Amino acid sequence: MSADTITRTRVAIVGAGPAGLVLSHLLQEAGIESIVVDSRSREDIEGTIKAGILEQGAVDLLSSIGTTSRVHTLGDRHDGIVLGFAGEEHRIDFPGLTGRSVWLYPQHEVLIDLIAARLAAGQDLRFGATVTSIDGVDTSSPRISGTHADGEPFTIEAEFVVGADGSHSVVRPVVTGPSRQGGYFREYPFAWFGILCEAPKSSEELIYSNSSSGFALISQRSENVQRMYFQCDPEVDPNAMSEAEIWDTLQARVPGTELKEGPIFQRDVLRFRSFVSHELRNGRAALVGDAAHTVPPTGAKGMNLAIADVILLNEALQELLLQGSERGLDRYAETASQRIWKAQHFSWWMTSMLHLTPEASDFDRMRQLGELRTVVESEAGRTYLAEAYTGWPFATTL
Ligand code: DHB
Repeated sequence: MSADTITRTRVAIVGAGPAGLVLSHLLQEAGIESIVVDSRSREDIEGTIKAGILEQGAVDLLSSIGTTSRVHTLGDRHDGIVLGFAGEEHRIDFPGLTGRSVWLYPQHEVLIDLIAARLAAGQDLRFGATVTSIDGVDTSSPRISGTHADGEPFTIEAEFVVGADGSHSVVRPVVTGPSRQGGYFREYPFAWFGILCEAPKSSEELIYSNSSSGFALISQRSENVQRMYFQCDPEVDPNAMSEAEIWDTLQARVPGTELKEGPIFQRDVLRFRSFVSHELRNGRAALVGDAAHTVPPTGAKGMNLAIADVILLNEALQELLLQGSERGLDRYAETASQRIWKAQHFSWWMTSMLHLTPEASDFDRMRQLGELRTVVESEAGRTYLAEAYTGWPFATTL
């Protein structure tokens, strides 16, 4: 390919995460061609460990994509979670309260399925392709340019550019203006220490536990691999703790459950941020997923919110590219924002209700227990949590 080769397509999608891949599928179903580029390699994308909870609506959509989705075979339906506090455990029954469930199916498995499905459908999907410039979003033929994995330059001319490229988005600055911050932002004074271990399940359902020494989450991956997290200082070195210290820390924080220990084969520290971009669209460019917003992990809303954005943007792009109308696009930011802020609130609320802040007073601590008791002892309280956790109905721009 020579330096001045220009490929034309209808939608240039930057980012081959859940948002970019699902969008390329929905567009193809409507007969709209796209190209998806990602700076990471396929191995990187398929190997990065992330959260694992899918809302019912997200599962329904993913299982309709190709024949490769293993969400119903490898994934596990969860009909509730356990909230732990004050040495007690309280179950929140999702189907009983909302008629819906969630699925535990890790994001990297979702990506393995989606990449296989998109390649089988003939999608132009380029790994290791780094975008260095985005031009003309104020015209009807915006372009993205950069270099392929082999160092060859590329330019893609499209009718629309989508930033589905995560929290370090290269598309965001052309949407928000030159300031990369360009958004509502909040940091938290703690992080999660995450482990993967080889052990049987300690609990059939997720346990979210508030304890006097901090938060812990007991999650699962399979019959013999488990995922667990505990609140830690954001500066902690994940390799500084022994396995025995990790197990002691976790066990002290879930006093109602006896943890089944096993060799720890992965450790990571996840930082907490809340972020929403001030702008979600500028001319012929729009943001979806983590490029548009970040939530703290408590409640696992990240991937679900990305899918909800994509459903809306897909409708708006169909209206633009099949009917020549910008009506849906003009409504995209406002419609998507409503769910984004509901999910921001839920993620912040779960985080603040369950974690211990370094400056918390005795009053703050007792108030937090009062809040948890209010939730678990009231059907309205449990229903609010269950509705948000299992996911609100998808909105529409139509
Ligand atoms: C997982 C992560 C979350 O943030 C959460 O709320 C639930 C589960 C997980 O990785 O299993």
